[in-house]
Amino acid sequence: MKERKVSVIGAGNVGATTAQLLAMGGLCDVVLFDIVDGMPQGKALDISEACPLWNSSATVFGTNDYAAIKGSDIVVVTAGMARKPGMSRDDLLKINAGIVSGAAAEILKHAPDSIVIAVTNPMDVMAHLVLKTTGFKPNRVMGMGGVLDAARFCSFVAAELKVSPEVINSMLMGGHGDQMVPLPRFTTVRGIPVTELLPKEKIDAIVERTRNGGAEIVALLKTGSAYYAPAASIYEMVKSILLDERKVLPVSCCLEGQYGVDHVYAGVPAVLGSGGVEKIIELKLNDDEMSAFMKSVNAVRELVKSIS
Ligand code: APR
Repeated sequence: MKERKVSVIGAGNVGATTAQLLAMGGLCDVVLFDIVDGMPQGKALDISEACPLWNSSATVFGTNDYAAIKGSDIVVVTAGMARKPGMSRDDLLKINAGIVSGAAAEILKHAPDSIVIAVTNPMDVMAHLVLKTTGFKPNRVMGMGGVLDAARFCSFVAAELKVSPEVINSMLMGGHGDQMVPLPRFTTVRGIPVTELLPKEKIDAIVERTRNGGAEIVALLKTGSAYYAPAASIYEMVKSILLDERKVLPVSCCLEGQYGVDHVYAGVPAVLGSGGVEKIIELKLNDDEMSAFMKSVNAVRELVKSIS
């Protein structure tokens, strides 16, 4: 048994891959919850049986009973439905809002001291719903999206420059949707601004590809959406919180006056530590960046209004 416990709600592609990474990392015990009978139990057992091969002593428990999330340090919410043919974005929004609000009520009941990471899309809206339903302090409710988008941005820059992605640092802001705001001005290659290494057209093309990163994968997979990089992004956030690493990551946070925005979730640079969002960093954005950010924030605000 580990001292720390992380529960993952939704044992689909993103949830199960997250459980796998957490078990491999061996930092915490893992609970995998889903409403489908037997499925989380089967996946958890399969992951448990891999732990000896990873030299991991993590326990992985699959369940259909929310009581099992009791005592979780972190709860990751990936439960949701993928868009089906004929379903509008609004239909999907309403269905996932119901699922995530239900999960949030159970989190409040069984894991009232946890930190929650919302992943289900539209993620910024879902983070807002978790905050509203649980009544947790905003530092304890955040959304994953920016870490994934930034990783995509880094991988495309690395491929273009033919350098290791490890030396690339990038920052992105705004909602995790088509209107996200990649920030080339705050993207560096071992400290060298990317704007000095690539011409504007190439950077613009990478920005565009990053914005469409999710759709590019959906178009290839045809029957689902991305899950390896999303799960790796969740792992990065969980690790920074559990180990109090205080990494600076693009995280969807509840803005309370920062950037002149009140009570809306949007991606911003944040320090993640044992208290969750320890600090939101306010960058000095230029006019273009600020107006793109506000457009993105307003898109999130409109979505929230549409389900209120
Ligand atoms: N409670 C718990 N789990 C639920 C509920 C519920 N009320 N409703 C659905 N689920 C489960 C499904 O049974 C399924 O196992 O959520 C899981 C979703 O898994 P997938 O369909 O494989 O979706 P996935 O690719 O994992 O994506 C999950 O993350 O990145 C986002 O856009 C993505 O919103 C989506 C979410």
